[in-house]
Amino acid sequence: MKIVVLAGGISTERDVSLVSGMGIYKALKSKGHQVMLLDVFLGYANEDWKNVFEKDVDWTASVGAIKDQNPDIDAVKALRPDWKKNFFGPHVIDICQQADVVFMALHGENGENGKIQACFDLNGIRYTGTDYVSSAICMNKAISKDLFAAGGVPTPVGIRLKKGETPDVKVPYPCVVKACCGGSSVGVVMANNDEEYAAALEEAFKYDDEVVIEQYIRGREFSVGVVDGKAYPIIEIAPIHGFYDYKNKYQAGSTIETCPAELSEEKTLAMQAAAEQAFKVLRLKNYARMDFMMDEKGDFYCLEANTLPGMTPTSLLPQEAKVLGIEYADLCQLLIDISMR
Ligand code: DAL
Ligand code: MG
Repeated sequence: MKIVVLAGGISTERDVSLVSGMGIYKALKSKGHQVMLLDVFLGYANEDWKNVFEKDVDWTASVGAIKDQNPDIDAVKALRPDWKKNFFGPHVIDICQQADVVFMALHGENGENGKIQACFDLNGIRYTGTDYVSSAICMNKAISKDLFAAGGVPTPVGIRLKKGETPDVKVPYPCVVKACCGGSSVGVVMANNDEEYAAALEEAFKYDDEVVIEQYIRGREFSVGVVDGKAYPIIEIAPIHGFYDYKNKYQAGSTIETCPAELSEEKTLAMQAAAEQAFKVLRLKNYARMDFMMDEKGDFYCLEANTLPGMTPTSLLPQEAKVLGIEYADLCQLLIDISMR
C-alpha cells in the first residue's frame, strides 16, 4: 500500500507526534509498504515520493528524542508566517490524496480535534483512527465529562470555567485545573490552596480559553486502550516523582509502567468495561485510549479519551498490545486494517 504517515503540526505535542510518526514510518516500511513521513504543517517529506516536493528536505534526520519541555511552537509557526490562511504545508493535501490511507500520527490540537479529519472527508482522503465528530468531542474535556456522566462512566466531580468568569461553586482542594483542549498534560496544574489555584488558572488559561477544574483523585493511575470496541490489557503508570506530567511521560526511567496492571480480576474487568463504555458514549470508531485514576478506596474514574494515543514504540498502547502478543509493527498494520474496513 501507499501510506502517508502524517505527523508534526503545531500543537504542544508536536515533538511527541514526530517520534510517534517516525516509529510508525519505520514499522510500516518493515511491512513492505511504500511509506512517506510527512509533516502536516511544514510539508517536508522523505524518500519514496520525493519528486512531488518543491523542498527536497529529509527532515526525518532532525527527529530526535523528546525534550523535557514542550516544544517552542512559535518558532515553528515563524517558518510559515501565512499559516492562518492555509494550515497545510506545501502539497500536503495532494500527497495525501495519492495515498491509499493516511496514518494519523498527530497529537493534540489540529490533528486530534477532528478538523483535519473533516477536511480529509471532504477531499476523499482515507485515514486511520476515529472520525471528526468523536475527535472533536474527545478533545474537549468538559464535553467528554458530560457524556461520561450521561453514559454511566465514572468521572471526577468537576466544573468548567471560561476566561473571565467566576465559578458559582468551588471544587474542594486538592483540585486539578486543566486546559479544556490540551494533551500530554500540557496546561494541567494541581492546586492545594487559593494561591496555587490562582497560579493554576493563569497557567491553564495560557493554553485555552476554557478550563476544567476537577477534584484531584489521589491514588493510582491507569490507561486502557480500546481497539475495535474491545479493551486491551490495563497498564498502570507510576511516576517516580510527582504526577504523570509532560516530563514524566517522555523521559526514559521517570515512570514505572506495569502491564497487565496488578489489579484483581473483578477490578480489571470493571475498568475494561468502563473503558469500552466510554468508547461507546463518546461515539468513537476504530481505536482510542482511556485514562483512569483510582482512589485509595479502590473507586476508579475516567479522566479522558485520547483519540490518537501516543505511538512511540514505548508508548502505552504499544505496550498493552505487546501483552496480547501483538508486536509494534503488527499493531500499526492492525490500526490501518480496522480503519479501512
Ligand atoms: N496525548 C498523548 C500523545 C497520549 O495520550 O498518548
Ligand atoms: Mg491523556
